[in-house]
Amino acid sequence: MRNPGKNIRITANNITISYTDEGPENAPVIIFIHGFPFSKEMWDNQMEVLYKKFRVIAYDVRGHGDSDSGTDDFSIELFVEDLLSLMDTLEIKKTSLCGLSMGGYIALKAMDNHSYRFDALILCDTSCKADSPEAKNKRMKAIESVLKNGVEKFADESLTNFFAQESFITKKDVIADVREIMANTTGESVAKTLLALSGRKETCTKLWKIKVPVLILVGEEDKITPPETAQFMHEAINGSVMSVIKNAGHLSNLENPDQFNEQLKKFLGEKIVSRKTEVRKKKSEA
Ligand code: MLT
Repeated sequence: MRNPGKNIRITANNITISYTDEGPENAPVIIFIHGFPFSKEMWDNQMEVLYKKFRVIAYDVRGHGDSDSGTDDFSIELFVEDLLSLMDTLEIKKTSLCGLSMGGYIALKAMDNHSYRFDALILCDTSCKADSPEAKNKRMKAIESVLKNGVEKFADESLTNFFAQESFITKKDVIADVREIMANTTGESVAKTLLALSGRKETCTKLWKIKVPVLILVGEEDKITPPETAQFMHEAINGSVMSVIKNAGHLSNLENPDQFNEQLKKFLGEKIVSRKTEVRKKKSEA
């Protein structure tokens, strides 16, 4: 099934999921998963530079952007079910996955239980660790605050942690766009996602099992999932490649898209395009 374009709505795992699908039908697929509480729009820059060579798909995680919330409690496991159901509905057997922060938690969980569906991972500003008791406590307070004071206050308080110092001067437009996306998320979805994030299980003890190529990207000023966290995953994942993105905090793909895209294109070119060409060559020789 293929219906390329922007903001397509489709039913998967009993909810409506909104996604964007661009690029040649037979090209290698890459699916982008955004962080919390953002939307697929955060990947516009990456889609733009990849769509000629890749089939690029970005979707709104349940409860975010234009996707429905459904009635179930949220969990990373449910988000993985949604991803797999979207892939099945779109008849995608195998894909590369690129996830930022919460998107990375989803990608790592999907990889743990369904590794045969994925041929590469790009983990951006994310972590394999579960929340500490202090982090869980902060999430509970944030839930109370969101339900009492609304999402705008939550957005304003969170924004200070998302960006590098310099971005507040040089990337005012990006920050305004991110704030708008956050403010458009409902309080109920923010609260349900905070609960899901606080309950997520660690995936650090599963990293050794990952056999596909992995690229790890992290903003040098990421305060939420700092470079040490990325380094820990890099050391645990055999053959992984890591790059620190300059002048960037937690939203490295938005704060320094040039360096981010350069790393992404290099990795995908070397690990996916050249490998697929090699496999096709071997098949035609056989
Ligand atoms: C995100 O960007 O997805 C969040 O910072 C993740 C989190 O709060 O753990």
